[in-house]
Amino acid sequence: MKLNRNFKNLKDNYLFAEIDRRVKAYTAEFPQSDIISLGIGDVTLPLSAKTIDACKSAAVDMSTRGGFRGYGPYDGYPFLKNAIVDYYKQHKVELHADEVFVTDGAKNGIGNFLDLFDADNTVLIPDPVYPAYVDANVLAGHKIIYADATKENGFLAMPPKRGKADIIYLCSPNNPTGAAYTAEQLKAWVDFALDCGAVILYDAAYEAFIETKGIAHSIFEVSGARECAVEFCSFSKMSGFTGVRCGWIVIPMESPLNRMWLHRQAIKFNGTSYVVQRMAESALRGGYEDTKKMVAAYKANAKLITAKLDALGIEYVGGVNAPYVWFYCGVDSWEFFDYLLKRARIVCTPGSGFGNNGNGWIRLTAFNTEERTREALIRFESFWKDFRTVADKKFTRV
Ligand code: MLT
Repeated sequence: MKLNRNFKNLKDNYLFAEIDRRVKAYTAEFPQSDIISLGIGDVTLPLSAKTIDACKSAAVDMSTRGGFRGYGPYDGYPFLKNAIVDYYKQHKVELHADEVFVTDGAKNGIGNFLDLFDADNTVLIPDPVYPAYVDANVLAGHKIIYADATKENGFLAMPPKRGKADIIYLCSPNNPTGAAYTAEQLKAWVDFALDCGAVILYDAAYEAFIETKGIAHSIFEVSGARECAVEFCSFSKMSGFTGVRCGWIVIPMESPLNRMWLHRQAIKFNGTSYVVQRMAESALRGGYEDTKKMVAAYKANAKLITAKLDALGIEYVGGVNAPYVWFYCGVDSWEFFDYLLKRARIVCTPGSGFGNNGNGWIRLTAFNTEERTREALIRFESFWKDFRTVADKKFTRV
């Protein structure tokens, strides 16, 4: 047996697994400690009554001879694919149902999509960004190059002036920085991709959080995108499905990737469950009222966080079109993480876990409950005062 030799090129642990490890080690030592997570972007609000009604009624379908379903279509049931097609109409994006593929979540879709590409590909990934892109490409043995996202460009990486890539990842609204591209900025990426014959893998998992006019909700709002882009989206954050698992991919018909993905799914996937797809459909029907309420509640938490950072004079971005706030701590991100955990019992996400440009920065999530977010911010305020007095002596400055 020969193991995947690329495994040795990975970091010791996936970012969120490493955070879990450190939190477990801390709680093993201090079992009584009341830890608040503003770390992983996992939702806390319960599923809406409408989603649960859809779940119950789908379960009843499964209990009847007429309604029972076995294996579903590899690309998803038409009722959900059509609901997704209709969802895109609000942003004037016209899709055909055959361009929509239901998945069991955006992360799986993004990772599995690499099955369609040869090992001999150069992949361009913004730094910082959601770490699963880099790790999945390390595993696939791809050559990785980076596009810098820094304070100077508003944490929105733009296409390099020289050089080329075969596969480009973009995430907007961005995880971890919360920065989001306008349609004009995306057009520059589309033109770059068309020039080099690259595909853009566009992660729109946080699209429902966009409130600023001019920010693109889908890369397919941009002319030329149909010739070079694939879009990944998810019900996780908009409808509270992190545990339910459902997402989708849009692959234009004219792309060879459309047929290849269907073929790949037929080989390796037997579909997202009927009950889950009915739940997802309910989230997209009837004006998305539940989604809007859920998103508004998390955005209110983001406002609490940014108000506190403003009051403390801390530099940050994000928190407007995304559930993430990205602030400058000025020291090694993992050292800050450990200190925040130890002194305030708050879990954050260290910016360096998203890429080298993230060092000195910290991501906070707005996905906890309002009560716990408020409590965390009270703790954070006194923590920050203490941290500032010791920062120069105890920490590695960035
Ligand atoms: C995050 O915290 O970055 C995300 O929740 C992780 C994920 O979506 O897999």
